[in-house]
Amino acid sequence: MENKHLLDFQNVFYTYDEEDKDSFAVKDISFTVDKGEYVVILGHNGSGKSTIAKLSNSIFVPSEGKVFVDGMDTADEKNEFKIREKVGVVFQNPDNQIVASIVEEDVAFGPENLGIPPKTIRERVDNALKAVGMYDYRLHETHRLSGGQKQRVAIAGMIAMLPECIVFDEPTAMLDPRGRREVINTARKLNSEGMSIVLITHFMEEAVFADKVIVVDGGRILAEGTPREIFSKTEMLISCGLDVPDTVKLSLLLKEKGVPIEGLPLTEEELTEEYLRILNL
Ligand SMILES: Nc1ncnc2c1ncn2[C@@H]1O[C@H](COP(=O)(O)OP(=O)(O)O)[C@@H](O)[C@H]1O
Ligand SMILES: [Mg+2]
Repeated sequence: MENKHLLDFQNVFYTYDEEDKDSFAVKDISFTVDKGEYVVILGHNGSGKSTIAKLSNSIFVPSEGKVFVDGMDTADEKNEFKIREKVGVVFQNPDNQIVASIVEEDVAFGPENLGIPPKTIRERVDNALKAVGMYDYRLHETHRLSGGQKQRVAIAGMIAMLPECIVFDEPTAMLDPRGRREVINTARKLNSEGMSIVLITHFMEEAVFADKVIVVDGGRILAEGTPREIFSKTEMLISCGLDVPDTVKLSLLLKEKGVPIEGLPLTEEELTEEYLRILNL
């Protein structure tokens, strides 16, 4: 089948309360993620982000509408294992995702459950640990790791399943700045190697590298576009409890003060280039 998206949400509704049909946590959500795409979902607390994450690999199935993973309907139970292999979800709290006491045993857990031969598991675990920069820690005890390291071990556990997409549900919310950088850099590296990434976050700076940004509010999609399109809608973001990246704030402030900044620099590099242009350097 041509034109098949890796992840395809079609008019999805989800309720935690089957009794109360009006209490949808997710309302009429439609979006797609293609192979190799980097999608960021922004939204304040309670806007439905974690529900979307759980709908993306059949942890939840829609109350109404459809979710397809590589053409497979997530509501069809016989697809469950194939779907979980293709789309992994990394959650907020690294401590809830670590299952073994030694790093390499933890990473091997997923592939072992798939019944993969030991020699192949060894290779997958080593490759996964190298991919997240934790290979040297393979024999370390998991409980001694920092938050960022634990989160990277959790990501390695996903990678060892050879997924085509990883959904990160606020993976940096409990981390210090260094841990946040480690995790975001890992996601960007995986994406540069061809993996699809869905990053759910409320840190605006983490959204500037996305191919596509989706803003959710009250369970609905409020806006979808490139980071530049989204961050130029400052008022819309503020009205739904979000912010703009510091670089954007600074640009807007300088423009207000009469500095002739053109366009909307998003990253520090872009802002520096714009300064150099203005100063004719
Ligand atoms: N287990 C649950 N039972 C009932 N309501 C829930 C449950 N989990 C989340 N909700 C509700 O669903 C809505 C969306 O929650 P969630 O997807 O966790 O949002 P986010 O991840 O953006 O904070 C919220 O109103 C929340 O209170
Ligand atoms: Mg959440």
